[in-house]
Amino acid sequence: MKGVVLAGGKGSRLYPLTRVTNKHLLPVYDRPMIFYPIQTLVDAGIKDIIIVTGGQNAGDFLRLLSNGKDFDLHRIHYTYQEGEGGIAAALRLAEPFVEGEKICVVLGDNIIEKNILEAKDLFEKQTGGAHLILKEVGDPERFGCPELDGGRIVRIEEKPKQPKSRFAVTGIYFYDSTVFEKIGRTKPSWRNELEITDVNNFYLEEKGLTHSVLDGWWTDAGTFESLLRAANLASQTGANKMPGRGSPPRPVLDTE
Ligand code: G1P
Repeated sequence: MKGVVLAGGKGSRLYPLTRVTNKHLLPVYDRPMIFYPIQTLVDAGIKDIIIVTGGQNAGDFLRLLSNGKDFDLHRIHYTYQEGEGGIAAALRLAEPFVEGEKICVVLGDNIIEKNILEAKDLFEKQTGGAHLILKEVGDPERFGCPELDGGRIVRIEEKPKQPKSRFAVTGIYFYDSTVFEKIGRTKPSWRNELEITDVNNFYLEEKGLTHSVLDGWWTDAGTFESLLRAANLASQTGANKMPGRGSPPRPVLDTE
């Protein structure tokens, strides 16, 4: 299984913090935001990883991450997104890298306490389709939100005014390679983005969608409130200190 970290976008909900840098380079407690989703993949044993980014700071990712030595990787792949267009549009750029394999996609601002090993094992046993990870939250209207019936997802709504459940669809997705054909069928939404929720609903229509519920805390970090929460959670319970998270990244000195 290959890994994709999506780290593009304007991060406009964090202006002026993101006026001159990319959201995923901002600090979350003791490391840049993007370290967390990479660590999530590496902890799940997924070491063939591509970063999708764009904008004026794309080169900073290369300088920050280089070949991935903070994560004991020998190389990291990168691809460049011209402009923005939503999560599904960014994911599309990973198609040549994926080469027909199954993938785990992690949004660059999604941070978890524990690991995704259970979900990954479930998806590996699936012949194809997709697997989502849900988490119960207090503000489901901020996210993709599933309508559930007898424990099955029947529909997912993006930022619903009246959420049909208390769950959020986290930004950690498992897909087979038909995801790219599905992205091709999506149309820009009201926020002028190709929505990953539309892609997930296509899988649902094909009855190819399963889900699990995440153990431990989860947060995004794309708003002032969630960025602060992410830093507090990471410092208090220490995403890095949890069993299964691996050791904290070693600081890289300029002189190295
Ligand atoms: C995106 C997705 C949403 C998902 C969320 C997780 O929202 O569109 O379905 O629940 O990430 O972080 P966005 O951050 O683009 O508002």
